[in-house]
Amino acid sequence: MKTLHSHGSTFMFVFSLFFYPFLSQAIDTITPTQPLTIKQTLVSNGEVFELGFFDPGNNNLYIGIWYKQIQQKTYVWVANRDNPITSSSGNLTIASNGNMVLVNQTGTVVWSTNQPTQVVKTVGQLLDTGNFVLRPENDENPENYIWQSFDYPTDTLLPEMKLGWDRKSGIHRFLRSWKTNIVPSTGDYSFKLDITGFPELVTMNDETITWRTGPWNGLRFSGTPQMVGLNIMKFELQDNSDEITYSFEMLDSSIYSRFVVNSSGISQRLVWAETTKTWNTFWYFPGDFCDQFGECGPFGVCDTSTAPFCNCMTGFRPKNKQAWDLRDGKDGCVRSSVMDCGSDGFLLLKNMKLPESSNAFVDQTINLSECGAICKKNCSCAAYASMNITEGGSGCVIWVGDLMDMRHYVDSEYGGQDLYVRAAASDLDQSVGAGSLKKGSNNGNHVGKIVGITISTCVVLTFLLILVYLKRKKTRNLKKSFNRTGPQERTEDFVVNKGVVVQSRRDYYNETTMDELELPLFDFRTLAMATNNFSDTNKLGQGGFGCVYKGTLTEGEVVAVKRLSRICEQGCCIEVEEKLLIYEFMENKSLDMFLFDKEKNVKLNWKMRLDIIRGIARGLLYLHQDSRFKIIHRDMKASNILLDKDMNPKISDFGIARIFGRDQTEAETKIVVGTYGYMSPEYAMDGHFSTKSDVFSFGVLILEIVSGKRNRGSSNTTSQLNLLGQAWKIWNEDNALELLDESIRAKFSENEVLRCIQIGLLCVQEQSEDRPDMANVVLLLSSENVRMPQPKHPGFFIRKINKEIEYSSKDDDSKTINGITISILDGR
Ligand SMILES: *[C@@H]1O[C@H](CO)[C@@H](O)[C@H](O)[C@H]1NC(C)=O
Ligand SMILES: *[C@@H]1O[C@H](CO)[C@@H](O)[C@H](O)[C@H]1NC(C)=O
Ligand SMILES: *[C@@H]1O[C@H](CO)[C@@H](O)[C@H](O)[C@H]1NC(C)=O
Ligand SMILES: *[C@@H]1O[C@H](CO)[C@@H](O)[C@H](O)[C@H]1NC(C)=O
Ligand SMILES: *[C@@H]1O[C@H](CO)[C@@H](O)[C@H](O)[C@H]1NC(C)=O
Ligand SMILES: *[C@@H]1O[C@H](CO)[C@@H](O)[C@H](O)[C@H]1NC(C)=O
Repeated sequence: MKTLHSHGSTFMFVFSLFFYPFLSQAIDTITPTQPLTIKQTLVSNGEVFELGFFDPGNNNLYIGIWYKQIQQKTYVWVANRDNPITSSSGNLTIASNGNMVLVNQTGTVVWSTNQPTQVVKTVGQLLDTGNFVLRPENDENPENYIWQSFDYPTDTLLPEMKLGWDRKSGIHRFLRSWKTNIVPSTGDYSFKLDITGFPELVTMNDETITWRTGPWNGLRFSGTPQMVGLNIMKFELQDNSDEITYSFEMLDSSIYSRFVVNSSGISQRLVWAETTKTWNTFWYFPGDFCDQFGECGPFGVCDTSTAPFCNCMTGFRPKNKQAWDLRDGKDGCVRSSVMDCGSDGFLLLKNMKLPESSNAFVDQTINLSECGAICKKNCSCAAYASMNITEGGSGCVIWVGDLMDMRHYVDSEYGGQDLYVRAAASDLDQSVGAGSLKKGSNNGNHVGKIVGITISTCVVLTFLLILVYLKRKKTRNLKKSFNRTGPQERTEDFVVNKGVVVQSRRDYYNETTMDELELPLFDFRTLAMATNNFSDTNKLGQGGFGCVYKGTLTEGEVVAVKRLSRICEQGCCIEVEEKLLIYEFMENKSLDMFLFDKEKNVKLNWKMRLDIIRGIARGLLYLHQDSRFKIIHRDMKASNILLDKDMNPKISDFGIARIFGRDQTEAETKIVVGTYGYMSPEYAMDGHFSTKSDVFSFGVLILEIVSGKRNRGSSNTTSQLNLLGQAWKIWNEDNALELLDESIRAKFSENEVLRCIQIGLLCVQEQSEDRPDMANVVLLLSSENVRMPQPKHPGFFIRKINKEIEYSSKDDDSKTINGITISILDGR
């Protein structure tokens, strides 16, 4: 048993080391530091959809989305359909301008979300709806998408996805078939909402309509009786000032259904049958002769229950008798009677798929009898119908010119609707011609006021809206980039302050460095103006580094301006008379003011604390890895974590931060600055710092956030152990939950707390090489599934003896850190 057990733990350890990339399959998000490589996939939170690289069988690579639970790969979206990766490798990642980009082996961008440069930090996320979205990483509104795949459909319509026009953004969403079954590039067939005239959905081969649904009549499309009477899904046509869209919804969300236009131009609805593991075709269009657009020509009526299928209405005859008799009805019918506009009446045709309606005119405000009066008065009106058949009917549609693609249904009570076609008075008395077309009632006796028909203004409106939107967008972008003077394309609005801006009367960073930092620049006058010439009334406080003022930029943005005093021997930087740092103004000041305050402490519940920990971790990761320079903060502590109004943490105070070249990993310094209690042993003692010394400080921070206690000056003065020591002790006693701040014990997740403590202890391990790097920490914090090693002994095991501080490390060496004498003692 013992052997087995130890095998088991060895395996686990190996597992945790080598299988991180595979475990991270359960991740649904791409971040700048976690690109999607060819071996990985994203899986939506509820495991409904999966996104990754795929080869449909043509030896090229595409990024696509498919159903996670369906073995038989069913691709519902393809990102780079017309720009496949032809090599064997590529990455989907977030570029420095905030867009998602797909790069091939040589680093060429083959696909991009292609949105205006983002000033905020973005992530890409696959949602359970199958929508792949690009959104700000931290935003109050999680649906504030910068870009979404639902706006750029491929050949598939999923539930909740909208076809048609977003009238605000001007985006027109439509389906476009694959080229062939194995080539997803743009094919010949599209399926779109045609809004010229009376809206309806059409399948098109290039510019030619091949099938149309018929207009929406309030309940259904007049040409799709198949869609009626379903109890598993619901269809919707939205027509308002925001949008004109078609969408469907599953009433039972456990059933998968999709609508696809395939490469041979068939538009079909498929529903997954779990029992047989197949996609069942609910219906497909065109499904019969009469579905095919215009088979019976102008004024012809198609009816599959008659022979031939094509019919001419009463008062009409085939235009080309010869072709007609050979079953070619495409030339249609012509009137056989002489029309007299004044005395004409109307044929009522029941169960009709309404004529093609791009030339139809719509008036929503009048009823059917008024509609008839208008049509009768206007000699070019060929037919009219009710626009909306719910509740007895409302609105009016009139057709002028030829009536195309009419169809008559006999075998379905849901097929079509009533259509009134202009006919000569003499014809209205005669019996009906071919087929089952009934003679309509004589509507000549309709009386009513004549009201002008409003021409649909959709199109004009849409263009106006696009213009307005473009204009608005432009202003907004300008506003976001306020006073930046550099040529930079991006700013960082991540956990690092948006406005960590450094400027002086004399530039102390040379220009390249400033450019490369990609931070906005302000000139001195702007800041003097913003702070009312650094007046005392604007003064927020005073610290070791100088005074802090509240300032208001001309755009209304509130900032905090720190005016550094002349004492500046800090690690990095700066040898000029006047230095100013600008921070985003943080409503909630700094973390320590909450954490170590008996009263405010309670307000930081567990969820907030976890969010803060995660936020700081991502921020630090950003500094270490993500920004173009490796930045080692060197002074991570609770008072350097600022909180905005939503309690989002921002790392601040880069006063002693050291910027590293990308390949440089550690350095030494003679002047050890930092804050006692957060410093790693190797830094405190040898002045040796690296990203791992920041990791140490972060570990201390985690334990402080969990416990609500400071590492130094532990409230329990009789205890000889500091916070790290206590944590280590109770961890080994299997009592780790005792560390949790008493004020928040009412509600917390045991699992999360224990995980955080373990991560904290891993970060403060004595040997820097044992500590995880921040990428790992972020992963550990975000996934419950990733296994963690047991922490080893922490670095500082401090006891207070006569105000001297002892370390459980190394031998009798001693060093002076900013005046504090530290004796080192081997305590183990
Ligand atoms: C990457 O894409 C570019 C542009 O399409 C192409 O020229 C280059 O050959 C591709 N590289 C590889 C390795 O396929
Ligand atoms: C993709 O990303 C991985 C890990 O970030 C990296 O090792 C690899 O070189 C990248 N590949 C390409 C083609 O950019
Ligand atoms: C049709 O009329 C009903 C009832 O008046 C209304 O609720 C519905 O929104 C209308 N539909 C359309 C598409 O105008
Ligand atoms: C398109 O769908 C129809 C109906 O399901 C099917 O008969 C046809 O083979 C499909 N075309 C292709 C290219 O798969
Ligand atoms: C149609 O509207 C007119 C004018 O508002 C009204 O007089 C008439 O009764 C209405 N007809 C029906 C059938 O509702
Ligand atoms: C008939 O109606 C159409 C569509 O509303 C309109 O364009 C045309 O001017 C009208 N003709 C007459 C004579 O009123």
